[in-house]
Amino acid sequence: MRKPTQFTYRSVEIDLIAGHLGRIAVFLDDEGRMDVSARRVNRLTKGAVARLIKSGRFQKMKQGQVFTLNLPVGMAADAVDIVCLSRRATIEQARAAGASLAKIRGDADLLMATGNAKYSAQIAFGLAMRDYNFVEHKTAGETPKGAVTLMCGKTEEVIATAAPLMAVAEGAFMTRDLVNEPANVLTTTEFANRLVKMKNLGLKVQVLDEDELTTLGMGTLLCVGQGSDSPSKVVVMEWNGGVEGEAPLALVGKGVVFDTGGISIKPAGGMEDMTMDMGGAGVVAGTMRTLALRGAKANVVGLVGLVENMPSGNAVRPGDVVTSMKGDTVEVINTDAEGRLVLCDVMWYAQERFKPAAMIDLATLTGAIIVGLGHENAGVFSNNDPLCNAFLRAASAESEGAWRMPLCQAYDDLLKSRIADMKNIGGRAAGSVTAAQFLQRFVKTDCPWIHLDIAGVASVKSETALAPTGATGWGVMALNRLVADMFESY
Ligand code: BES
Ligand code: MN
Ligand code: ZN
Repeated sequence: MRKPTQFTYRSVEIDLIAGHLGRIAVFLDDEGRMDVSARRVNRLTKGAVARLIKSGRFQKMKQGQVFTLNLPVGMAADAVDIVCLSRRATIEQARAAGASLAKIRGDADLLMATGNAKYSAQIAFGLAMRDYNFVEHKTAGETPKGAVTLMCGKTEEVIATAAPLMAVAEGAFMTRDLVNEPANVLTTTEFANRLVKMKNLGLKVQVLDEDELTTLGMGTLLCVGQGSDSPSKVVVMEWNGGVEGEAPLALVGKGVVFDTGGISIKPAGGMEDMTMDMGGAGVVAGTMRTLALRGAKANVVGLVGLVENMPSGNAVRPGDVVTSMKGDTVEVINTDAEGRLVLCDVMWYAQERFKPAAMIDLATLTGAIIVGLGHENAGVFSNNDPLCNAFLRAASAESEGAWRMPLCQAYDDLLKSRIADMKNIGGRAAGSVTAAQFLQRFVKTDCPWIHLDIAGVASVKSETALAPTGATGWGVMALNRLVADMFESY
């Protein structure tokens, strides 16, 4: 697993600036006010920083943006990165500043003189999050990177604030690694093995195999994987950092390691993207890693359904009727609507076994959510306003797009089947909502629940604020914050 960038923290010593080999980053208030480090750079370069301001170019810079002075005269450094960051910057802007530096730092040693910037830890977090590249299958490997030193005031405080943030970065990296991994490498078995390794972080991890799933009656989950040579599995990860015996938060993830559509096969164009159809399970895994790494004082259980949706002589057919663990029967109209078949059994199992205080499921569930919300927001569906609002607040605080969608009986009615208790699709209209309604049939009425449709945000084709193209790790930050806000005991 790829670990986030390690930082060295040190107190402010501006006499290091003149002789530092590599890059130096200094931070300028949006009004162009220089701190001691910026002033020192300005003096050494005979006024280069002041000229940037005087030229009017600085005033056009956005928060978090960088202007680079290359090979500055009067200094040993390769480059000085002048970062625009207001003293009243938001967390998002501070992180953007760190992300800008991550993109340009290269193999030079970077000295970040954040001085008394109160957002030093957030700048470091932004740098760490953006400092990610999936090079697992590049024979050349990772291009060498320089060391990063954070030169700041109140070093001890900054280190203490940064520690849990680095746990978030490491969790998000795990999610990204899983989501980026191709399906011939990340089989259901390999996925489960990677989760079992998290035992060394103090998580309890249990893998349920096909025999056990059969005994439990998970007929809808099992029908999805029956056409694949990879065995279906459910993995249960328990983090018991809270009060003993207190009902946990349950996180449930869709882990379709590859979705061909099955017999209702998908068109060839773009099918390769379906390696990311385990994105929900990836976020659950990454969040559990974060919670364990930072020692969250909460009880949280993560459950993932790992299957592969393939066509074959054994595959489930359109028209087949299968029985869920709950006991309800489902007519499989379209074998490409497989995610809900996986989730409904895992969600039922989660409620039966753990009696959770709340349940949140995550899934790359529908193409329709991309039609509706694009790649900016995940779809949020919930039966509980306080829980839903707390999640929306957490997502907003972390700048992870999330938008609430409706649920109601009229949508549920679209799932009626002539021969079974329900169909697995509603029809063309409101595809994301009918998918959510299907899931809600497997949520007990007294269980506060959120469904997150992350099909549009789990992996994207252009870079985002804190991630390069590909897997984003969307949701790890928001869920970690929700746990801190709502489920941690102090
Ligand atoms: N995994 C897909 C949804 C998806 C689409 C995820 C694009 C990421 C990007 C899901 O299993 C699926 O195939 N959904 C169908 C449902 C339909 C058959 C009712 C869809 O959205 O077309
Ligand atoms: Mn599908
Ligand atoms: Zn799918």
